[in-house]
Parts: sequence; structure tokens; C-alpha cells
Amino acid sequence: MTVELSPIDRAKFVSAKRAAEFVEDGMRVGLGTGSTAAWLVRCLGERVRDNGLRIRGVPTSARTAKLARDVGIEVITLDDARWLDLTIDGADEFDQELNLIKGGGGALLQEKIVATASDQMIVIADAAKEVESLGAFPLPVEVIKFGWRTTQALIEETLISMDVMGRTSTLRMNGDQPYVTDEGNYIIDLHLNRIENTRQLALVLNQMPGVVENGLFVDICDVVVIGNSDGRVEVR
Ligand code: 5RP
Repeated sequence: MTVELSPIDRAKFVSAKRAAEFVEDGMRVGLGTGSTAAWLVRCLGERVRDNGLRIRGVPTSARTAKLARDVGIEVITLDDARWLDLTIDGADEFDQELNLIKGGGGALLQEKIVATASDQMIVIADAAKEVESLGAFPLPVEVIKFGWRTTQALIEETLISMDVMGRTSTLRMNGDQPYVTDEGNYIIDLHLNRIENTRQLALVLNQMPGVVENGLFVDICDVVVIGNSDGRVEVR
């Protein structure tokens, strides 16, 4: 693949290309969502086309499903696959324990279901995604439409009671309309600045009525493949 890339895209591309090497013939592979994951899908498509790699992909969004089909990857549903050998996906932030914030692209629900149903999850990211503490990137929470304002208020009250920094939240918009996920839900982004109690926050959020899933991935990611704009790649 010969392409002229911006520094950030080069970092994303080299990380995706390296991670694609983890995929072996016959695997059932979870395919993430976002610009880094799109590079991964293209790299896998190239191997399918040029090297006869046979894989079945479970996409985590309608966008990824379309791209995967376009590049020649056989697409199946998670219910067809039941269990996956490997999922490769991007992230908005990762820390030293390989905990993640995901959902900047709005696909956190399918992404978490697919990653959890995999023997291994590999995150692909440019080096700027590494943080000491999660939380500078707004934490996405997928909520059902019914009563979303009440759910938002409940989340904010809970954040106050947990003494979480930041505490403001916003409904994600798509122009002048609320952003709607592939599953027909809304996303509330939590502006927390810094998350101290990642595991507890992830559990508490998911216990609230109206919350479908949150973008904290704790103990799910096994490996991070970090790309740099000069082409260097680190596997951690
Ligand atoms: C989508 C995600 C993405 O993986 C995350 O937003 C990173 O995206 P990008 O690779 O475009 O930076 O979680 O829901």
C-alpha cells in the first residue's frame, strides 16, 4: 500500500499494519470502529486479496461492516461467530494498565460486547493516546432515549456523590439533532478531566437505570500496538 499520509495518519497506519500481522488464517476477528480501525480493515482486506488470507470479520458498527465488505472481508454477525479469536480496535485513551476510554466514534456498546467475546483484544493507537490517568477525553455513556434527561441528572448526582472531578455532561449532537447510535440510543459525554477510580466508576455507571453501557474498558485489552509518526511501532 503506497500512500501519502499526514503524521497522525501515518502513526495510525503503522500501528494498524503491525497489528494486522497478529491475524492468522481461519481466524474469526472482531473489527473495531474509527479511523485507526479503518486502516486495520484496509490492511486485512489487502491480505485477503493479495495473499489469500481467509478470515471472518465481526464488525462493531455499520460503518465498519460496509468498509469490510468493500475490501473483500467476509462479514458475519457475532451470533454467527459466538466467540472470536481476536478483536483489534482503536481507543481514545489508554493508560499503563491498558485500561481504555472508547466510544469517541459512538460504537462503544458493540465494541465492548465484541471485545469481551474475544480470546484477545489488541488496541491500535497513535502515541498521543497514552495517558497517565484516563479522563481528559470525555467519557461516553450510551443511554436509552426514554427519560434521557433524568438519566443524565442521575449520572451527574452520582458523580458528585463519588467526588469525581469535572462532573459536567453533554448530550452528543450530530448537527442540531442528538447523535443516535447504531442501536438507536443516545450518548452522554462526561467531562471528568481525570478519573481516579476507573473500575468503580465503570461499575456504578452501568447500574443506573437508563444506562446501556459506558466507554471505560477495564481488564479487557491485552496488548497495545502504538504507532509513531516517524514509522516506529511499539508493542506493549
Ligand atoms: C469508536 C472508538 C474509536 O476506536 C476511538 O474513538 C478512536 O478513534 P480513532 O481511531 O478515529 O482515533 O472507540 O467508538
